[in-house]
Amino acid sequence: MIPCQGMESLSRRAQPQREALMATKSWARNALTERLGLTWPIFQAPMGSLASPALAAGVANAGGLGGMGLLLAPPGTLRDRILMFRQASEGRINVNFVLFEPAPDHEARTTRVREALAPHYARFGLGPPPEIPPLDGRVAPHDLEAVLDLKPDVVSFHLGLPPDDIMAALRSAGIFVISTATTVAEARELERRGVDAVIAQGLEAGGHRGTFLPGEAGAQAGLAALLPQVVDAVSVPVIAAGGLADGRGIAAALTLGASAVQLGTAFLSCPETDLPPNYLRAITSAGHHETTVTDLASGKPSRILRNGIEALLRDLDLPPAPFPVQVILTQPLWDADPSLQTV
Ligand SMILES: Cc1cc2nc3c(=O)[nH]c(=O)nc-3n(C[C@H](O)[C@H](O)[C@H](O)COP(=O)(O)O)c2cc1C
Repeated sequence: MIPCQGMESLSRRAQPQREALMATKSWARNALTERLGLTWPIFQAPMGSLASPALAAGVANAGGLGGMGLLLAPPGTLRDRILMFRQASEGRINVNFVLFEPAPDHEARTTRVREALAPHYARFGLGPPPEIPPLDGRVAPHDLEAVLDLKPDVVSFHLGLPPDDIMAALRSAGIFVISTATTVAEARELERRGVDAVIAQGLEAGGHRGTFLPGEAGAQAGLAALLPQVVDAVSVPVIAAGGLADGRGIAAALTLGASAVQLGTAFLSCPETDLPPNYLRAITSAGHHETTVTDLASGKPSRILRNGIEALLRDLDLPPAPFPVQVILTQPLWDADPSLQTV
């Protein structure tokens, strides 16, 4: 696990002490860290609502890049979240958009899952499963306006990139734009579309695969194989993600050519994420064989801990509701029955 407490104690050191320390840490400096003004080449992954302004501020205060996710956040919260971050930190921040369009078959797929889950909702006295309209994960005009106004240091995307006019607006506002590639072809496509850096996400990664080119589905390799190939394929800096959790992994990623690393799971046990105790226990005690990549949790392939809800959904033997409607449909069951969160 990343030493959260260690990062906190570093953040309490005075700036001159930090600079003196950095003079001896040349491994941590490169063009990317200089461009972003980072003390450490460590990005905290934006992880939906788990990546709170408090977590992002803790990481940024320690000299890394804080990350805030927006997936399923109520409309209009982006501005507030950036302002909350800025009250707690003068450090660097990355605001993340997970991109998706309303599914054309939303109605049919959602209805089937709602009907199948109805008896399980009834078991916990939850009433009927909620009706959910098609969700739209394209960058909303009010979010773009907030970003161009408040200018976070970095804007990142997962599952591709927005249209060229939005890319151009971000770039001309001086915002550093990054996105995730799971294959060499995706890394080349991101560079062609004008990103400032590419995140190479290996198969080990927790959460959603960043796969966005249809032909690349299922082609994601492990990080040790993917990373050097991406570094060779693109001319922009590469950020390594997937299964990195301590200094050994970070050193290996930098050796393989990464300019920085992005860690997700390792930050989940930091107190700022407010993870429910049973989640925290499950994550910190899980063995290497206890995760699986499935689209059952959210509607898109993601690496999750094997648990009771995944088993329940597997037994239903139904295609999931479209991403991320499946999350909204299954969340009340997780909340009602903590035993579903673990197996
Ligand atoms: C719980 C969780 C939620 C995530 N949510 C997002 C997200 O909203 N946006 C995003 O770009 N990446 C997201 N990711 C993926 C991370 O950016 C990164 O690829 C991954 O965490 C790296 O693997 P690791 O978890 O082994 O460190 C998420 C990861 C986790 C574990």
